[in-house]
Amino acid sequence: MPAYAVIGGQWGDEGKGKVIDYLAGEVDSVVRYAGGNNAGHTVVNEQGEFQLHLVPSGICWPDVDGIIGNGVVVDPDVLLGEMEMLQKRGIDTGKLHISERAHVIMPYHVMLDALEEQARGSGAIGTTGRGIGPAYVDKTGRDGIRVGDLLDWDSLAPKLKTVLERKNQVITKIYEGEALSLDDVKDRCRRWAEQLRPYARPTEQIVQDRLADGKRVLLEGAQGTLLDLDHGSYPYVTSSSPSIGGACTGLGLNPQAIKGVLGVFKAYSTRVGGGPMPSEMDEATAERIREIAQEYGTTTGRARRIGWFDGVAARYSQLVNGFTGLVLTRLDILDGFESVKICVGYRADGQEVSRFPANTSLLSRCEPVYEELPGWDEPTASATKLCQLPASAVTYVRRIEELVGCKVQIVSTGPSRAETIQLSPVFD
Ligand code: IMP
Repeated sequence: MPAYAVIGGQWGDEGKGKVIDYLAGEVDSVVRYAGGNNAGHTVVNEQGEFQLHLVPSGICWPDVDGIIGNGVVVDPDVLLGEMEMLQKRGIDTGKLHISERAHVIMPYHVMLDALEEQARGSGAIGTTGRGIGPAYVDKTGRDGIRVGDLLDWDSLAPKLKTVLERKNQVITKIYEGEALSLDDVKDRCRRWAEQLRPYARPTEQIVQDRLADGKRVLLEGAQGTLLDLDHGSYPYVTSSSPSIGGACTGLGLNPQAIKGVLGVFKAYSTRVGGGPMPSEMDEATAERIREIAQEYGTTTGRARRIGWFDGVAARYSQLVNGFTGLVLTRLDILDGFESVKICVGYRADGQEVSRFPANTSLLSRCEPVYEELPGWDEPTASATKLCQLPASAVTYVRRIEELVGCKVQIVSTGPSRAETIQLSPVFD
């Protein structure tokens, strides 16, 4: 059977956790391929509400295993804490597999993330401070420590000494921070090795075997396309590839194995951290949405910035990912607005900007061109059929389809599994 991907179409926080949990009942494995515990996926089901940062969102289904692929960066303390929380709540974590090739977020990565952000001053990216960027820097710089390295103490010990000496030089001499103790880092690594050993596996082989055995695999995107290191609003991006290309490299999966690519979009836009957001709303409207929707980061608790649906950015996201279907989430949040706006174009320096620009300075000068559509008074909240939606809400959904150039397959009308309208089958 083929693999299907669920990818954030915007700046993350599109509600992928709910979508994955909803679809996971029909799959055998849910696989994370990028990012780390900068992600925060909320899952609400009969067992309650779960905030997941590293464990794949399908874990609550008894027959679904969770795989953390090589493209993910793993903070072992966070992962082990999350596993403990799940075990306490009766969720089996024995079906979790972690790639031996996944890189480890080390204590110096978390420290450097904070020091580097501080040094950026007014140009700060607004990182989540979880050590994600520095861990990926070490990965590409070939100084990283992988989950498999933790299990090979004889090779790891000398490497740790050399790497930590250099990191401490940077921490103390450039940033005037406090050096980390080698003994301390070694102790942590020993503990992590012991606890992670039963879960560390060749996940590329496991995923391929699952597919060869006729199992259905769901690829769980984290963050969103506009935060992609290559395709997002650089440098205000994360350090991995949330878009579909990241799924191939982050799992060791060939592209032919991927049958469907679902793009998840909120019915409006949100962003946390710095960087341009052309369709950002006036603060009063943003505050109204923020309060209704509780738009505060799952990972950091920061207030999210709010904008209208950005059709230019969404079209670009479609270009990069080749979505085969869309999921529109949080439609219910727009219930009761007299009118709703969609950004259908940008203008900058007196000219039309037809594409999502690569140049961040140009993107920050882009003014949105809006189309205003009638709002709806009747609630869409908890609807499970399209015919339950007010006509204006349907018009809104259809206009988004037109702008993105792809059909909406699922509309989410609330946080729980049941609050979902499925318009067409996602799987063959
Ligand atoms: P980092 O990934 O912690 O390095 O943060 C880089 C940028 O990505 C910052 O603007 C973060 O707010 C943003 N970011 C990272 N992860 C998420 C996420 O899961 N949702 C939304 N924004 C995120």
